[in-house]
Amino acid sequence: MSSLLVVRNLGKDYPLARGVYPVFHGLDFEVGRGEFAGIMGASGVGKSTLLNLLGAVDRPTEGRVFLDGQDVFALPPVERARLRNRQVGFVFQFFHLLPEFTALENVCFPVLIGGGGWPEARTRARRALEDVLLGDKTDMRPSQLSGGEQQRVAIARALVNEPRLLLADEPTGNLDWQTGERIIGLLLDLHARRGLTSIIVTHNEKVAAHCRRLFLMEAGGLKPIPRP
Ligand SMILES: Nc1ncnc2c1ncn2[C@@H]1O[C@H](COP(=O)(O)OP(=O)(O)OP(=O)(O)O)[C@@H](O)[C@H]1O
Ligand SMILES: [Mg+2]
Repeated sequence: MSSLLVVRNLGKDYPLARGVYPVFHGLDFEVGRGEFAGIMGASGVGKSTLLNLLGAVDRPTEGRVFLDGQDVFALPPVERARLRNRQVGFVFQFFHLLPEFTALENVCFPVLIGGGGWPEARTRARRALEDVLLGDKTDMRPSQLSGGEQQRVAIARALVNEPRLLLADEPTGNLDWQTGERIIGLLLDLHARRGLTSIIVTHNEKVAAHCRRLFLMEAGGLKPIPRP
């Protein structure tokens, strides 16, 4: 299995008023095409920071991220933004839907940002919402949807541009156990059906049990946890 994601000597410091806050350095790992990988670790070790670097939302202080052989941070900003828009889908703990827009409109945005027009965006968004079994709630606003439904809208939005890489940051952290299980089931199903490579950050051992590959992040490093 060739690696979709290759990380070399990755490091991140956040600038502070005086000096910097070092989160991690020297991270080296790969995630193979089609893998469903999990990242666990205590609060504050840098899991979200890492995901933001893998998704090219933020820049590393040192090191490189290769996505499908492409050196992500060597790209000019416009091309990096295009790669993020087309190749990476993000799902968050608190959904991050825009409250004043309908489910359909929320899912349309990545298509519009990628240069598609409204007709194409609406067609693709409707299909993506049907894929997460929300074809009957396309005109609802986030406040009219349950937490699990809002997360399904967010998953549709993450996948509407058919990315290769899905990054999920504690996607069940804000849901009850049963709803969380359904969301994980849905992510596993979409992962398989769409041939995704997925990386999920979780605090939950039961969620982690679904991951075929697991990493533990601790004080400045990332180590693989052997799986049975
Ligand atoms: N913009 C920032 N400026 C300075 N420090 C930051 C910034 N963002 C995060 N940090 C610090 O970096 C560290 C890692 O944060 P991060 O959010 O990646 O942790 P995490 O592992 O995702 O934690 P959690 O499990 O609570 O979500 C924390 O100590 C945090 O305070
Ligand atoms: Mg976090």
